[in-house]
Amino acid sequence: MLTQDLQRRLDPFLMLDAFGTDNPGDYIAGFPDHPHRGFETVTYMLEGRMRHRDSAGNEGLLGPGGVQWMTAGRGVIHSEMPEQADGRMEGFQLWLNLPAAQKMRAPWYRDIPAADIPELTIPGGRVRIIAGQVANTLGAMQRETTAPLFLDVLLEAGANFEQALPATHNAFVYVYRGALSIAGTAVPQQRMAILANRADAGCVAFTAGPEGARAIVVAGAPLNEPIVQYGPFVMNSKEEISQAVDDFRRGALA
Ligand code: CO
Repeated sequence: MLTQDLQRRLDPFLMLDAFGTDNPGDYIAGFPDHPHRGFETVTYMLEGRMRHRDSAGNEGLLGPGGVQWMTAGRGVIHSEMPEQADGRMEGFQLWLNLPAAQKMRAPWYRDIPAADIPELTIPGGRVRIIAGQVANTLGAMQRETTAPLFLDVLLEAGANFEQALPATHNAFVYVYRGALSIAGTAVPQQRMAILANRADAGCVAFTAGPEGARAIVVAGAPLNEPIVQYGPFVMNSKEEISQAVDDFRRGALA
């Protein structure tokens, strides 16, 4: 969903895939074995179940409200397969870039069940804190270099949400239920709003429309490093991409 230009604007985030369907034909094939190198994938499930298996020996079942945080680092080969034959499948996969110095680190993986994601009640709503921090509450995950914030915000009609952000963070909001408005601009369902990062901004704030709203809020410190992507490999140079393709072909990536 993010184009090359957007990758620059939303650095350190490389991609957001919002999936949602009631039709098993759309998801039943899943994602059989495929490689990744150079970044992290963060999968947040709203509905449905997916089983993960990877070449580092990790296996986990991702269920409603749960998160899977996978650091590909120097390489993993994994599969993501539905563990259901019918019903709804809905969620997000966000790709978070790694700084150059960490792109070839060892792979890492964590399953975070729904019950382990800190949740805050706010006036007219609630916030699930997948990564980062809201007020004094730490989210389920922290990352030093990019300091990512990943929130799921639920608001009743007319309720407000406001979160301070470092002025240098890039940030976006994706509305997946209802609608909201940001500084007077309406953001309908299934739309992404990219926030301007100006020195005087320093926060993300919005108000739910008459039907209420659910939205994810994503923000992070840009890496300001070259981004060279070839499918599931994201490195800093063409040479590193060639190396990744080579390593994969000769079975040395994982
Ligand atoms: Co994958």
